[in-house]
Amino acid sequence: MKRLTGLYKVSLAERREQLASLANLNRDDLTALDDALTIEQAAAMIENVVGRYTLPLGMATNFLINGREVAVPLAVEEPSIVAGVSYAAKLVRAGGGFHTSSSEPIMIGQVQLLDIDDLEAAVIKLIAAESDLLAAANQFHPTIQRLGGGAKRIKFRPLMDTPAGPMLIVHILYDCRDAMGANVVNTAAEAIAPLLEQITGGRVNLRIVSNLTDRRTARAECLIPVEQLTKNEIPGTGVARAIFEAWAMAAVDPYRAATHNKGIMNGIDAVAVATGNDWRAIEAGAHAYAARTGQYSSLTTWSLTSKNEANNSDQQIEFLRGELEMPLSVGVVGGATKAHPTARVALKILGQPDARTLSEIMVAVGLAQNLAALRALATEGIQRGHMRLHARQVALAAGAQGAQVQEIANRLVAEKNIREERARELMASTRERVDSRG
Ligand code: MEV
Repeated sequence: MKRLTGLYKVSLAERREQLASLANLNRDDLTALDDALTIEQAAAMIENVVGRYTLPLGMATNFLINGREVAVPLAVEEPSIVAGVSYAAKLVRAGGGFHTSSSEPIMIGQVQLLDIDDLEAAVIKLIAAESDLLAAANQFHPTIQRLGGGAKRIKFRPLMDTPAGPMLIVHILYDCRDAMGANVVNTAAEAIAPLLEQITGGRVNLRIVSNLTDRRTARAECLIPVEQLTKNEIPGTGVARAIFEAWAMAAVDPYRAATHNKGIMNGIDAVAVATGNDWRAIEAGAHAYAARTGQYSSLTTWSLTSKNEANNSDQQIEFLRGELEMPLSVGVVGGATKAHPTARVALKILGQPDARTLSEIMVAVGLAQNLAALRALATEGIQRGHMRLHARQVALAAGAQGAQVQEIANRLVAEKNIREERARELMASTRERVDSRG
């Protein structure tokens, strides 16, 4: 794929044309980017449907991932995210782009076993029965097994001290291939429950997937030459150091880490929504992983690399280095990924990735979003850029249309008074001027 550029400078129609030619979209695909989910399709997806809820779909540009150009669709309501990740991806390009990798797509199904007298003896019996348990877990979903997936291992977590007394948690490790996998894993967990009771004499309660998918992770790293970070009068080395300091706060302070990670998820969730993936599952996994050491912390790591390791003075700093590794359970088959027409086109734009490639794109977007936020926070602050975009939403909310949206937004920003009431006043005074001219 070639690179999408300058989208912000051209009209919406031109943007769509560029995208269509770049991603080989046909007329139906373009229609699917608009308002494609019919009310009947919506009614088949969830219960008690009364309508459809639409979100903007924007394109993040400049992503070079493992040497491949990727244009990333983002579905999100918050201004600044699309612009922020695109800008950050441009900075990262200058250092060779993102390098990503991922684990095998192994999900965990949990079965809770209670009323067992001797947990240790039960584990020994279950270890001996592992192949029978795997066979029971693999009774269903032959397609996944044909593709090399399916239940692979059984693991045990005896929990001696819970508010309900001791219990044995059985983990089924299930390779989900290109599916997100919650359904197949839940089926497998339910399928082995009777056998677990039979072997241990215990009683099964829960049988459900775990969203802490720490065996299904994606990783991205990037290297930004510091001169790229120069901002107005602040030299790049100063900006790099300020970004590093901002990260250091998130590394130890959960109050900051929550916001820092929220920024990462701004990017990741937007790709998840665009591609019909379960963003709540991804969120749950991300935050649980961020607290895996017992202290909630930053999901990313930023460091400064110097020409001379012994001398870390600002003059010696060469690169800002970023890393993000996190659980990412996403699919490209099943669920809304195929049932939602816009999600189908989003996957087409991404080059029909498999699930692992999609997770790697998402983790790169998360790292880019974190870089964009930290760079803004560590320099001019977040409000300046945010407010410009926020002003457009305020103008829209006040009823502005077409070119008027930007005009009103510009005036709100110039007056440093970004309120809907003021937008209405400005619109009324524009109307009066037009009326009096006849
Ligand atoms: C806003 O949606 C996200 C940020 O707060 C993230 C951050 O503080 O790192 C800007």
